[in-house]
Amino acid sequence: MTNWEFSSDYAKKLDQNDELKSFRDLFYLPTFTKNDVVYFTGNSLGLQPKSVQSYIQKELDDWAKWGVEGHLYASNPWMPYHELFTEKIACIVGAKTKEVAVTHSLTTNLHLLMVSFYRPDNKRNKIICEKKAFPSDQYALQSQVHFHNLDPKDCIVEIGPREGEHLIRNEDVIAKIEELKDELSMVMIGGVNYFTGQVFDMKAITEAGHKVGAKVGFDLAHAAGNIPLKLNEWGVDFAAWCSYKYLNSGPGGVSGYYINEKHVTNSKIPRFAGWWGHNKEDRFKMPDKFSPIPTAESWQLSNAPVISMAAHLASLNIFEKAGMERLRKKSISLTNYLEFIIEQININNNNCLEIITPKDINQRGSQLSIVAHGANKALFEKLSINGVVADWREPNVIRIAPVPLYNSFEDVYRFGEILEKSL
Ligand SMILES: Cc1ncc(COP(=O)(O)O)c(C=O)c1O
Repeated sequence: MTNWEFSSDYAKKLDQNDELKSFRDLFYLPTFTKNDVVYFTGNSLGLQPKSVQSYIQKELDDWAKWGVEGHLYASNPWMPYHELFTEKIACIVGAKTKEVAVTHSLTTNLHLLMVSFYRPDNKRNKIICEKKAFPSDQYALQSQVHFHNLDPKDCIVEIGPREGEHLIRNEDVIAKIEELKDELSMVMIGGVNYFTGQVFDMKAITEAGHKVGAKVGFDLAHAAGNIPLKLNEWGVDFAAWCSYKYLNSGPGGVSGYYINEKHVTNSKIPRFAGWWGHNKEDRFKMPDKFSPIPTAESWQLSNAPVISMAAHLASLNIFEKAGMERLRKKSISLTNYLEFIIEQININNNNCLEIITPKDINQRGSQLSIVAHGANKALFEKLSINGVVADWREPNVIRIAPVPLYNSFEDVYRFGEILEKSL
């Protein structure tokens, strides 16, 4: 560990040496708090890039000027608008361009992907997922099982932490995959668990799933733009993510999805189709038979929601400038510094703060989840009054995520100072 210090001067020094420090000015920091904000909820909704307004305004101007002709003549023509994202997003998730597309919303994409990759037959009908997955994923999985006239009680196998532990062991996921063998149809878990911030070993889980003949997919809501991903190299079958957390593209912003190259042109894989997945050459001849684009784009149903996608484009252009490698490097330092400060606070406070996120940097991203023993929501309210925007989960868990694009080491110091006073 570096010789960290829990002091304002030291945090300021870290900021001075931060090669990404100028990126903070590219974002609006919320102004609703009485005291200066410490915004640590980029894991829930990322901040607005200042450039978003002009990106959206450009589309509004083109719409005003061109009407329907904007599909062809807008400065970024709307018909192929979604193609502006392919390379940028492929870079962020470690995929080939033919494996990704950006459209719809996250839960919609997970459904569309599971229609294709959860194909239960008599014996092979089970799904492995993490216990207490994000509720939308639980509902999506249950409804997929119902869709095949099966019972979730028979088909969904949840892996939870062992007695007395907070994290789910990768080895337990893999052991369950090996145990279910030819009964296992699909593994579908969060690449980063939303509650604990734990990063799963996606490579090992994918390999284990494939060994028993199952498909493996990940919900990357808390992973995309947060941790390095190598979906193609790991051989993951499918994945989807949202753009409004670490990807800073606005509330309800478009989702992205990935389908491994070996599946994208496999005509035996069923899918729910729409006209935007149909071959571009004759889409507007309006043929009555669906002919899929030979890339992941063929899972697109509808034409691009350009206005909200403009915000995503503004944000991805910032990502491109910062670069995932530099972002990850700063993210590790920010979160390590946060961990150090919490440990310092613990020294004088009977170790009342228990970080349940893994200590190993390879098993976590920006987020730390902290159990505040003996505390209740009054603690969270004190933090809020003093300008901290964080996330509280009953009965006593605080989730915080310093985000490398717009958070500073001084934010981390100030959070520590406020937390210590509030305890
Ligand atoms: C892990 C996870 N999965 C799914 C969702 C649902 O996303 P959406 O409402 O965009 O479909 C969320 C939303 O926060 C999430 O955190």
